[in-house]
Amino acid sequence: MPAHLPVTVKHRAGWDERHLNAPEFACAMVEAGAAMITVHGRTREQGFSGKSDRAIIRKVREAVPANVPVVGNGDVLTIDDYFRMREETGCDAVMIGRGALGNPWLFRSIRERLAGRPDPGPPDVHERARVFDRHLDYIVSHAAPKKLVHELRKAVAWYTKGLRDSAHVREQAFHVLDPVQVREIATRYFSSLMQEKKFPAAIASDVDKVSREVA
Ligand SMILES: Cc1cc2nc3c(=O)[nH]c(=O)nc-3n(C[C@H](O)[C@H](O)[C@H](O)COP(=O)(O)O)c2cc1C
Repeated sequence: MPAHLPVTVKHRAGWDERHLNAPEFACAMVEAGAAMITVHGRTREQGFSGKSDRAIIRKVREAVPANVPVVGNGDVLTIDDYFRMREETGCDAVMIGRGALGNPWLFRSIRERLAGRPDPGPPDVHERARVFDRHLDYIVSHAAPKKLVHELRKAVAWYTKGLRDSAHVREQAFHVLDPVQVREIATRYFSSLMQEKKFPAAIASDVDKVSREVA
C-alpha cells in the first residue's frame, strides 16, 4: 500500500461486556499509525442486539490524541440521535449505517440543522420514487446475480416503510422470484401514490395520515 495513503480503523466497544477494551485498542491502533478511529458502541458478542454504548465512545475520544479524529457509530436513526452522539461522546464525526437505509435524506436534514436552518424533512413521493429507482439501478449494476432478488426486496422494504398500504407491496415483493417482477411491483405502487392528484407532494410520513383523513 502506498505510504501516503492514510489508514483508518473501525472497531467495536470490545469483545464482550467484561472486555470493554476499545480505548486501549484505539490507542494501540493510533500508535501503529492509524489516522482515524471509528467506534461502534456495541461489543462483538452483542452483534446488533442491545444498544450502542455512547459512554465507551466518549472514553475512546478521551483516550486518543486530540489530533486523531474519532467517529462515533451506532443507532443514529434521527437528527436527535446525531446531536446526542456528538454531545455525549465529544466525537469529531458521526457514521450512520442502518438509519440511512431507505432514508438517505437523513444526511440532508442533519446538514441543514448544522447550518442553522430548519430540517426540510423527508421528501415528497416523487423524489422518494426517483431516488428509489436510482438505487435499484445501482443494485442491478452491482449485485451478484444470485443475490439480486434479495437485494431488490431489501430496497423495496426500506423505501416503502411507513407508506400507505405498503405492507402489501412488501409481501408481494417477497413472494416473487423474478427481479424484474420485484421492480414492477414497487414501481406500480409508487406510481399509484404519485397519481393521488390531491396530495401529489404528500411527504412520506404524512401519507398514512392523509389516507386516513380522506377515507
Ligand atoms: C448493510 C450494512 C453493511 C455493513 N457493512 C459493513 C462493513 O463492510 N464493514 C464494517 O465495518 N461495518 C459494516 N456495517 C456495520 C456498520 O458500519 C455499523 O457499524 C453498524 O451498522 C452500526 O451502526 P448503525 O446503527 O448506524 O447501523 C454494515 C452495516 C450495514 C447495515
